[in-house]
Amino acid sequence: MSTFQHIKGTFDILPDAYTIGDTRIAASHEWRHVETVLHEVMTRHNLEEIRTPMLEPTELVARGVGEHTDIVSKEMFAFERRGTHYVLRPEITAPVTRAFLEHHLEQRGGVQKLFYIGPCFRAEQPQKGRYRQFHQFGVEIIGASDPRADAETIATMIAVYRAFGLTGARLRINTLGEPEHRAAFRDALVDYLTPYKDELSETSQRRLDTNPLRILDTKVEHERALLNDAPTLLDHVDAEALAHYDAVKQLLKSLDIAFEEDPMLVRGLDYYSHTAFELEHDALGAQSALAGGGRYDGLAPALGHDGPLPACGFAAGMERLFLALDAIDYDYPAPETPRVFFAALGEDAEAWVFKTVHDLRQQGIHAAHDLKGRSLKAQMREANRQDAPYTVIIGGNELADGSAQVKTMATGEQTAVSFDDLADYLSTPPAA
Ligand code: HAM
Repeated sequence: MSTFQHIKGTFDILPDAYTIGDTRIAASHEWRHVETVLHEVMTRHNLEEIRTPMLEPTELVARGVGEHTDIVSKEMFAFERRGTHYVLRPEITAPVTRAFLEHHLEQRGGVQKLFYIGPCFRAEQPQKGRYRQFHQFGVEIIGASDPRADAETIATMIAVYRAFGLTGARLRINTLGEPEHRAAFRDALVDYLTPYKDELSETSQRRLDTNPLRILDTKVEHERALLNDAPTLLDHVDAEALAHYDAVKQLLKSLDIAFEEDPMLVRGLDYYSHTAFELEHDALGAQSALAGGGRYDGLAPALGHDGPLPACGFAAGMERLFLALDAIDYDYPAPETPRVFFAALGEDAEAWVFKTVHDLRQQGIHAAHDLKGRSLKAQMREANRQDAPYTVIIGGNELADGSAQVKTMATGEQTAVSFDDLADYLSTPPAA
């Protein structure tokens, strides 16, 4: 009989951590812990949660992220069904902007500060830290053109990693100016690189025609050398864009957030203008980006919105956060264990345990028992595996007495507790 395996580039999240190759896949309770910390950090930064569907119209992503980006041209899981074109979302900024516009969230008043955590899909070549289904958490601040919104976005991103005690992340920032500045720079870059076209890699040659700014991301040594003398984006942005950039840098300094300016930083999505940034960590290896983002005032108009809608945000890979936490041997809290494990001897006891465990659970107590009708020895092995601080063995005598011996596992101490008082007794854990 054949069995099935997970699709390459995806992974299961199980009750226990396990490894695929040399990558540790965190346990479900570790995911839950990280998500709880994220919610806490987001809430104290006065962000509200938004959840959008996994499926979006393909056109939204094509127009939002940009036709010539790698994401849209090569990496979309897209399909057509009865004339409708669907895509599994490769990112969440365009979907959040769609939802904002569709539901007129500006009518809530003020600036909308939103966060999300959820799966994204990109048909990339899987490798360490790079998956086809991965998870992003992120922030979108919509409705503010003030540089404080850019700085607050970055500060929130940094606060997340601080909350986990992660140090050693490097923040790189740049300004992309307005679209017309970028267009002028693009032309200058193409003019500069065209005489060297034959020396460029196949990818860069293709990008020279489709998306020349992405050539700045090249890792090819001689291309990097060539770019040293290339025109820079900074030379093409105007005074207003520079003033915005300066203000963001001043604000970051006022918060003691260290950054490096990187005039080559362009990001792989088309919707950015002005501030762009990336957070990297060496512990991650080749896929070094923990998070990235920037300002995207032009996205809403690109999606058909009448007039500008200033916005900025960041998104981060959950899997990369886990990799970074592994590198610092992050101490996850232990998963919750049952408060009590009941072992039963005989059919009457089984029936009583089944009902009592149910009643205790209704009263909010995490209670466990065996569902296999096994020997007492096997039940006690199960009790040990589940690591409950209390165990109770129920047999004919206990049923006759209406009282149970509750064993505190840490000390071996036994206490007689009448059935009527069990819930009360079990509602607190043993004294440490
Ligand atoms: P991005 O740089 O494409 O930006 O993705 C953000 C983060 O998602 C990356 O830094 C990385 O940690 C993670 N990531 C991306 N692709 C993968 C993958 N295949 N496997 C694992 N992790 C991955 C965006 O998506 C923008 N929407 C960010 C943004 C929000 N800009 C403004 N607001």
